[in-house]
Amino acid sequence: MNHLIAPSVLAANFRHLQADFDLVNRSEADWFHVDIMDGRFVPNISFGMDIVKTMKEMAERPLDVHLMIVEPEKYIGEFRKAGADVITVHYEACTHLHRTIQQIKESGAKAGVALNPHTPVSLLDDVLEDLDMVLIMSVNPGYGGQKFIYNSLLKIKQLRQMCIVKNLSTYIEVDGGVGLQNAEEILKAGADVLVAGSSVFHSKDPLDTISKLKALGKAEVWV
Ligand code: DX5
Ligand code: ZN
Repeated sequence: MNHLIAPSVLAANFRHLQADFDLVNRSEADWFHVDIMDGRFVPNISFGMDIVKTMKEMAERPLDVHLMIVEPEKYIGEFRKAGADVITVHYEACTHLHRTIQQIKESGAKAGVALNPHTPVSLLDDVLEDLDMVLIMSVNPGYGGQKFIYNSLLKIKQLRQMCIVKNLSTYIEVDGGVGLQNAEEILKAGADVLVAGSSVFHSKDPLDTISKLKALGKAEVWV
């Protein structure tokens, strides 16, 4: 498949959120990545359902909602109602992960599970078939603008292999420290969805950056 680009709105300028949403709406980006942080699962706090609802009104692309919260099962219905199209919960935050995945699917959203940098991909072996997406965290969750952890490339490759063996087309999303300097390598390792926060919104020309991220790998068509 052609890879997807999901700008992370955590790096947008909240003084003119509408303008930043309009920019993404005009761009070649595919999704809006929305980071929800509760100050418990991660040290930072971001935004809740009401803001997600407003984002849904401004977005002309699906909302990819990344829940970095404890007990995510309590809030899945509300985030779905607020407009989440993809809901991703953390492996480390779910005691009954299988049940939570079913709950996301029953809500009508696509279901994703995120793995922290220390969590091996092999732990998803028994639920991979139930998932629409796996999110590989390539930084420790909580903040934008961190440095990409290179061991993540190995995890992407391992996960891609697991999907091939099981004949699954589960999306592999990579989140944290992704930009033009490493996106090609990440795609080669087997990623399908690139989350990019600061590398997009803090760049001189975000539209051009998105378009360059989107164009990566396409050159293969001509050889
Ligand atoms: C980190 C979040 C990321 C973050 C990425 O906890 O999950 O989505 O916004 O930001 P950058 O692309 O700046 O690393
Ligand atoms: Zn995220």
